[in-house]
Amino acid sequence: MHFDIFTLFPDMFAGVLADSIIMRAKEAGHISIAMHDIRGYAQGKHQVTDDAPYGGGGGMVMKPEPIFRALEAVLGLENETSSCTPIILLSPQGRLFTQAVARELAQHKRLALICGRYEGVDERVRQFLATDEMSIGDYVLSGGEIAAMVIVDAVTRLLPGVLGDPAATERDSHADGLLEHPHYTRPAEFRSHAVPEMLLSGHHAEIARWRRRESLRRTLERRPDLLARADLSPEDKAFLRKLGWPPPEV
Ligand code: ADE
Repeated sequence: MHFDIFTLFPDMFAGVLADSIIMRAKEAGHISIAMHDIRGYAQGKHQVTDDAPYGGGGGMVMKPEPIFRALEAVLGLENETSSCTPIILLSPQGRLFTQAVARELAQHKRLALICGRYEGVDERVRQFLATDEMSIGDYVLSGGEIAAMVIVDAVTRLLPGVLGDPAATERDSHADGLLEHPHYTRPAEFRSHAVPEMLLSGHHAEIARWRRRESLRRTLERRPDLLARADLSPEDKAFLRKLGWPPPEV
């Protein structure tokens, strides 16, 4: 997978991309990341990348020309609809980025991410350049850079060969629409707090059942909204019914 990241602040990425799983994925050739400074595609002595909004009001808006020029140069676009690489504009108005979307993006060979800044980005970038617009949650960041890092991280760990244990991503929270069960490691007793007996039993099938139930219990307690869309077996549903789910209709 190749990521092209378009930003006015390429230095923000240095720490995140040089560490841990992302760094190892780069070294092993599973991913490559190219940073593109939008300012480098701005014209004139001052390389201006933003301007006041038409119609007045506060704040500045990112100009369309440097962004179009940067993407056209890097992706070799010939016209406005010629990209087979998803061009994703990061913005709080976008489609919500979820684990399912991460899996969808992981199918591509290349992704282009445009990090918006300031008050916003000229609407023509959204209309005639981006093929998708994505938000990482219902809050406003100072720009799309952190959102782009989130997407790079979540997509990278799904790529074949990136994690040592290929089953790890199947166990992740959200992988099957549920939150993950709790984890414990040694010691079996810590400050008089014991690890659940079941996990010490060595009965693998029973442990798997216990984990599934804890996963269901936890999802019901913390994110009941996820249960409606989760893939639930008849046994899961019977367990949830005992816990009072679904709640009676009002
Ligand atoms: N830019 C500002 N806020 C954002 C968000 N929530 N998601 C993606 N990009 C953003």
